[in-house]
Amino acid sequence: MKFFIDTANIDEIKEAHSMGMVDGVTTNPSLIAKEGRDFEDIITEICQIVDGPISAEVISTDTEGMIKEARHLAKIHDNIVVKIPMILDGLKATRRLAEEGIKTNVTLAFSPLQALMAAKAGATYISPFIGRLDDLSQEGLLLVEQIVEIYSNYAFDTEIIVASIRNPLHVLESALMGADIATIPFSVLGKLAAHPMTDKGLKAFLDDWEKTKK
Ligand code: G3P
Repeated sequence: MKFFIDTANIDEIKEAHSMGMVDGVTTNPSLIAKEGRDFEDIITEICQIVDGPISAEVISTDTEGMIKEARHLAKIHDNIVVKIPMILDGLKATRRLAEEGIKTNVTLAFSPLQALMAAKAGATYISPFIGRLDDLSQEGLLLVEQIVEIYSNYAFDTEIIVASIRNPLHVLESALMGADIATIPFSVLGKLAAHPMTDKGLKAFLDDWEKTKK
């Protein structure tokens, strides 16, 4: 499973990258806004740090506007993936961008049929938002399972980026289902690595080592 980091924060990206945990980066307008810096400056800097797919989202909601923004964003770096909202105009834009060879990440997907449509339109990636479904008492991971099955049934090339991840179980279950990618917030990445028995065992080893010096 590939790990992307779901942040626009440069320090978090550098830290996770130094652990070998960053195969790519996803951003969205909310994550960019949190940084209080110029959008393109942030995306350019991320591209200099990480050699992998970097998602940058369009703001337009009409096809022509999305395509114009996508062409502009794609010029920033070869690794740019343009995030397109899962609306009908977005599907049209996705199809046209696929023909131009511009990679897309169809975002804000909340149903398996949306994911099927995105794949048919030629999306490079689909982003099901599982935490936001859980927030509505709907099972986000069930959506991942359904998309994995549909894409496998029809051998679509579109890769699944499990997004809106809130906890380690979201990553574990997605990996067991065979989702291609998890885009993980920095805070959750730390939780994946943590185990109290590791800390307890390490402390015991170090305490015993100290005794050898007496
Ligand atoms: O980047 C898209 C997605 O991961 C957002 O997550 O936590 O805002 O639902 P969240």
